[in-house]
Amino acid sequence: MEGAAAADGSATGIEMGTARRGPLPEVFMKVAPVLPPLRSGEKLAVLLPGMGAVATTAIAGVEAVKAKLAQPVGCLTQLGHLVGDAGEVGPRLRDVLPLVPFDDLVFGGWDPFPDDAYQAALRARVLERHHLEPIRERLQAIKPMPAVFDKAWVRRLDGPNVKTGTLREKAEALQDDIKGFMRKNGCARAVMVWTGSTEVYSEIGPAHLSMAAFEKALDASDPTIAPSMIYAYAALKCGVPFMNGAPNLSQDCPALRELAELQGVCTGGKDFKTGQTLMKTTIAPMLHARMLGLEGWFSTNILGNRDGEVLDDADSFKTKEVSKLGVLDQILDADHHPELYGDVEHKVTIHYYPPRGDNKEGWDAIDIVGWLGYPMSIKVNFQCRDSILAAPIVVDLALLADLGQRAGGKGPQEWLSFFFKSPVTVPGRSQVHDLFQQQVVLHRKLRAFAEQAASAATPAVG
Ligand SMILES: NC(=O)c1ccc[n+]([C@@H]2O[C@H](COP(=O)([O-])OP(=O)(O)OC[C@H]3O[C@@H](n4cnc5c(N)ncnc54)[C@H](O)[C@@H]3O)[C@@H](O)[C@H]2O)c1
Repeated sequence: MEGAAAADGSATGIEMGTARRGPLPEVFMKVAPVLPPLRSGEKLAVLLPGMGAVATTAIAGVEAVKAKLAQPVGCLTQLGHLVGDAGEVGPRLRDVLPLVPFDDLVFGGWDPFPDDAYQAALRARVLERHHLEPIRERLQAIKPMPAVFDKAWVRRLDGPNVKTGTLREKAEALQDDIKGFMRKNGCARAVMVWTGSTEVYSEIGPAHLSMAAFEKALDASDPTIAPSMIYAYAALKCGVPFMNGAPNLSQDCPALRELAELQGVCTGGKDFKTGQTLMKTTIAPMLHARMLGLEGWFSTNILGNRDGEVLDDADSFKTKEVSKLGVLDQILDADHHPELYGDVEHKVTIHYYPPRGDNKEGWDAIDIVGWLGYPMSIKVNFQCRDSILAAPIVVDLALLADLGQRAGGKGPQEWLSFFFKSPVTVPGRSQVHDLFQQQVVLHRKLRAFAEQAASAATPAVG
């Protein structure tokens, strides 16, 4: 298999520790062709459409870590180690992968509200003043560029900081923004991570089927082209990887897949995997591994931030619901186990409840079945902080998408499934939702990258 040697790190001198679990089956893995070392001081632009709670918590978090005010808890690239297929622990990721250091990240973004990152972080009420005040000036310097925004796609919001013109003009203006930002800030490369709102539900239509149709639709200002698609289009046109933190269709349509392929640019899945779905994709594999049955899984949440307000609109919630409902079917695999999972009742609701702000509370009632069909139940009460869970994912995705891009990746990067509620695969391969299977795939790819980086750093003999 291509990349087998790289996958176990054996050819590189990368020392892996003692096994914690047995071997796992081989998973298809493509080895990075080249991974040249980073040049010191080379800046990476991290461009965030949507500078709300998640984006400002990510930006302020990086600044707080740089100022030694806090640890990057929850950030795999900063605290994680390489993990072998059998669970053996290898070196720290930061020590063996050429990841851009925090000091070389430059944040920018767009939002229909003109608040700078400091004001937006205060409004989001996620981080406390003792974290924000010492980095106030850095945050105040980050002002959102005018957004490509359309109230038809996010009905609960409206702001003045928006671009005007045809969709084609807006797409071109975004490309100018990207290039201008990179030039102004001396950035060698950029990545875009969508941290904007969840748009109303939409399905792939004629305008999304090919690049030719998409560009024609831009010229005609076709209303089926969502703002998030225009950001994805602009990023891909500029050779900038696009990672999608929301369940919006965005890059996940044939036209933009075609563009990503043509431009040789990395894309990822959709919707950050945090909170309830993170729990679900952890507990469901356990039920399946022990052949315990499932009758029903009822998930409900209360959330009081702006995201909760947007999701209070039924059509935006539908986009989220589709993303959240998909995970159980694949993990439980009812086709092979109709007696255990043939008739599962799965419900997900989110309620907008302002008093809670960003501090989401989720309840899961899981009705399971044991030996001889006797019923049992599991209750989960997760009192989380939405943006505190999502912010490190923004940082990890930005650094890993950049790594994947430098390694020659293009199109959907399945190895990043670990971070998404809706992983995107290449056509013909099914999604994997099980967090632990995703972890194996991710770490195989990271080991392959580490090998490429190590061999690039080793002078050729003879
Ligand atoms: N926090 C989590 O745990 C989590 C998990 C998964 C996904 N998400 C998704 O991440 C996204 C951000 O969440 P949040 O809590 O920061 O929400 P938020 O409402 O605080 O921030 C979203 C921002 O996007 C802006 N926006 C909307 N449309 C835009 C456009 N077309 N261009 C530029 N900006 C636009 C809004 O004005 C707002 O400031 C949401 O889509 C949410 O569903 C969050």
